Amino acid sequence: MTPRDSLRIAILSRNAQLYSTKRLLTAAKKRGHSCHVRDTLQFGMFVEHAAPQLTYRGRNFSPVDVIIPRIGGSISFYGHAVVRQFEQMGVFSLNSSNGLTTARDKLRSLQVLSRHDIGIATSAFVQNRRDILPAIKRVGGAPVIIKLLAGTQGMGVILADTEKVAETIIETLQITQQNVLIQKFVAESKGRDIRAFVVGDRVVAAMRRRAVGSEFRSNVHRGGKTEPVELPAEYERTAVRAAHIIGLRVAGVDMLEGKDGPVIMEVNASPGLEGIEGATGVDVAGEIIDYLAEHVRFSDLDLRQRLSFARGYAVAEFPIVTDSPLAGKPLSESGLRERDIVVMSIDRNGQHFPVPRGSDVLVAGDLLLCYGPKITLREFLPHLKETSARKRKRKSTSP
Ligand SMILES: Nc1ncnc2c1ncn2[C@@H]1O[C@H](COP(=O)(O)OP(=O)(O)O)[C@@H](O)[C@H]1O
Ligand SMILES: [Mg+2]
Repeated sequence: MTPRDSLRIAILSRNAQLYSTKRLLTAAKKRGHSCHVRDTLQFGMFVEHAAPQLTYRGRNFSPVDVIIPRIGGSISFYGHAVVRQFEQMGVFSLNSSNGLTTARDKLRSLQVLSRHDIGIATSAFVQNRRDILPAIKRVGGAPVIIKLLAGTQGMGVILADTEKVAETIIETLQITQQNVLIQKFVAESKGRDIRAFVVGDRVVAAMRRRAVGSEFRSNVHRGGKTEPVELPAEYERTAVRAAHIIGLRVAGVDMLEGKDGPVIMEVNASPGLEGIEGATGVDVAGEIIDYLAEHVRFSDLDLRQRLSFARGYAVAEFPIVTDSPLAGKPLSESGLRERDIVVMSIDRNGQHFPVPRGSDVLVAGDLLLCYGPKITLREFLPHLKETSARKRKRKSTSP
């Protein structure tokens, strides 16, 4: 490795003695990078025009190329703010602050995943007392899972045997201002689940966890037993896609083995290394550092933030409907480019095709991600469904 390839890495962690922190530090040093553990809560942020700054233990923080955030649940607000500050200063974060914030909240994560073709545990979120019982029924009735939105390590996950008990628990938690998710109990998974460790666009290690005795939670912190597994392709694809949709490059994706395939429960942004390295023998820390070295120049860009600077331009996604004149035409003959529309990618049958070529033929059902003038894009966007209320309004206002 030339000095040019060596990185200055800071691991943001509250405790340098944790297994994961030590492993990352060792793996980084072994590869010739300079690496230090920094306590997240010792940073100070100064938010100034064109000059975002950070201090560490009261002094100016000397620049680094990369940060590896390992932010625990109890300090997530402050921790994510520190990561965001690094991002504004142009420092590459292994996981983006946006991804961290989404992953921290189980409801938010499932909401973001739900519009994609990915199996998730059916969930409900309600506030009104009268809505609780119908919500329990709607996700499948008792036994039902109740979850605190910000729980970790199996704490805050309850299996309620009857609807009445579930309702009482939810009411009680709500009185104490806790946000709770009502979730279908995936019984066929029998206290087992899969943890897939995603680094970039592949799963580098995977294990099955089994709950012990009468316990239904398979978390290692709840005594769960682990074994390595060879992941079926569908599970691997699901884990990688879920991590990307949430906005994470490195993630521990928890999936139940449902009767129709993988069911995502949660996506962890600071997954522990001890359980997975112990179960599989894979050098996960090394995989993470190698990934960093390769991707350090590809920071997260917010496309909308950048591209909407041009007045009248927007990013939009639209489907090729069955009777579309574009269906069956190669992209080069679609006329899109002539009208200033750039197609950035196509999604077809759950597969993603980046930067399509002119010779690629459009098919009904394709989803096109485009950048172009709003006025032209508008023609391709599906019409809003006309509700009866809107129809009535239109009638009453028309001459
Ligand atoms: N909907 C569900 N059906 C069956 N088992 C579940 C369900 N949700 C959670 N579990 C069990 O509880 C464990 C902890 O749930 P999880 O959502 O991962 O919370 P945590 O963040 O505390 O790990 C899971 O690993 C799984 O074994
Ligand atoms: Mg979990």
